[in-house]
Amino acid sequence: MPDYITTYIGIRFYPAQPDAEGICIEDIAHALSFLCRGNGHVSKFWSVAEHCIFCAREAAAREWPARLVLACLLHDASECYLSDVPRPFKKELPGYRVHEGRLLTLIYERYLGTTLTEEEERLVKKIDDGALFYDLKELLHNEQSEEDPQFHIVPDYEYRPFQEVEQEYLQLFYHYYAKMKAEERIGNREAEEGMAVSDNGVLVKAVDTGDVPLITRAPERPAPDYELLAAQLREFALTDPAPMPLLSNASALLKDAMGDVNWAGFYLRREKTESADGAELGLGSGVQESGTQESGAKKSGKEAPELVLGPFQGKTACIRIPWGRGVCGTAAFEDRTQLVPDVHAFPGHIACDSASNAEIVVPIHDRQGKVTAVLDIDSPLKGRFTEEDREGLEAFVSVLEKYGAWNE
Ligand code: SME
Repeated sequence: MPDYITTYIGIRFYPAQPDAEGICIEDIAHALSFLCRGNGHVSKFWSVAEHCIFCAREAAAREWPARLVLACLLHDASECYLSDVPRPFKKELPGYRVHEGRLLTLIYERYLGTTLTEEEERLVKKIDDGALFYDLKELLHNEQSEEDPQFHIVPDYEYRPFQEVEQEYLQLFYHYYAKMKAEERIGNREAEEGMAVSDNGVLVKAVDTGDVPLITRAPERPAPDYELLAAQLREFALTDPAPMPLLSNASALLKDAMGDVNWAGFYLRREKTESADGAELGLGSGVQESGTQESGAKKSGKEAPELVLGPFQGKTACIRIPWGRGVCGTAAFEDRTQLVPDVHAFPGHIACDSASNAEIVVPIHDRQGKVTAVLDIDSPLKGRFTEEDREGLEAFVSVLEKYGAWNE
């Protein structure tokens, strides 16, 4: 039994030995939207994310600083990794409380810079308890002896689709993270020219969010029009199917059309003579040999392929990649697309540009069905690439396969 869980964005997270690097707001937004309050003992579904959003909106309505609004949004984020335990039982589990506290501290440090002060904790708890009052009344029809907490807003328990809640959670996070940064700057340097912080629920402009830790894709990124891209690529191929002009324009098309991409290009198969012990093949630890002709080549000591840099857009990149190494070599060796939400969690990832955090690599086949190249796209945003991108890029690659002059 492994000591880790695989999270929604596909990384390994060790709940008992949490690593701050592995904490990801997209995982939090997603998982909390799927978790039900009160362990499901409620008259209708009300997610932990909806509860956190409600707390954050109440804090905002009270005009608390953005840091406290964020704290309300994040106060149950440890449940993303540990799940919820009812309060009466939680007090019987001292170990759980230790882990929960440690994890929450890491989450606050990651997104707020520091953990909460005692006063901040008191304020968050006040809102949390107030929200519980409404939950007990509306979701459990449990008459309360306590006074109505007199919130500025009231919860709307109408059922909403998970995805809508997840998006709202993320948008609130992005908004108040940017606002918190602006408030910190204003606090540090008085009011700064152009530092307008709107509070209309839309992302704040004029705020440098470049240092937002682990912020992944924008909440509602429209996917590029992959059909149009494939049609444009086909036109280029019909004009000249030679790999050099075709792949050059293909990388330009993709870099231009896809948002948040820092590198888009190709690595091409190159046969090379294997050294006597086969070491140069790069089929090192962690790479399984399959029954492909490549592993056959290794055994027979004949030709062994490698990948060599082809046309690309982006910063200079490594020139040769052993077959089976890194994300590119793995895609070529396994002959299947690699969609990597977090390259730092990919064993053997080869870092060319330190800005890259996510990557997708699609193998390209020649007319005989042999992997002849790979398309490689990098993004600075973790979790940037989706299944929709995979489908669109595979369709894009099939145009290359069909119209490119691969074996001529
Ligand atoms: N990251 C790749 C290497 C190529 S660069 O991203 C351009 C890999 O692990 O194979």
